Amino acid sequence: MEKTKLLKLLYQYRSLGFEYFRDYRQPNAPIRKNRIKSLDEIEKEAKECHLCPLAKSRKNVVFGEGSKNAKIMFIGEGPGANEDESGKPFVGRAGMLLTKIIENVLSLKREDVYIANIVKCRPPNNRVPTLEEATSCKPYLLEQIATINPKIIVALGSTSYHHLSDDYSMSISKIRGEVLEYGNAKLIPTYHPSYLLRNPSAKKEVFADMLKVKQLL
Ligand code: URA
Repeated sequence: MEKTKLLKLLYQYRSLGFEYFRDYRQPNAPIRKNRIKSLDEIEKEAKECHLCPLAKSRKNVVFGEGSKNAKIMFIGEGPGANEDESGKPFVGRAGMLLTKIIENVLSLKREDVYIANIVKCRPPNNRVPTLEEATSCKPYLLEQIATINPKIIVALGSTSYHHLSDDYSMSISKIRGEVLEYGNAKLIPTYHPSYLLRNPSAKKEVFADMLKVKQLL
């Protein structure tokens, strides 16, 4: 918990423009303002990341994929076995359902949107990522969001919504379908495709949420 608090503090400092490392021999050197990085730069940093224990068991860092000009970003929870193996997000059964939603409901191609996750490395046995893991990984995701500057962010499932909003007590069934302000974007939480595989009757709610997304595009 202490480590998580420290990480949050460091993250806040960073958002104010502090660099992780400053040259102690030049104490008066100006603090460089955070600049928007390219996706390639962020990816390189994420691929070398060892900030949390997930780095030890990962096969691949699943950075995210899609258009750098995407108007919509879909954010899931974290890579599963297929994603860890391939290095690509949402390529298993849940991914196939997400692709169908993008194509059949939003009438877009998967390559037109951007797909990422709260954590970029697979939690062992597909467990939910811890607060510490999600907090360590969040700066990469926020940088991806700043670079892509989407109009709409769809939070897939409660883990995604909780870590994006920092509102950990809200249940996804209550908040789904709401259109929330999120920086330059609108945040729309909905059910995770894995939940839909287990509860197909919830597809109608996701369909309604995606119609809202379509109207806002
Ligand atoms: N579930 C997720 O949340 N993300 C993936 O990339 C795959 C499955």
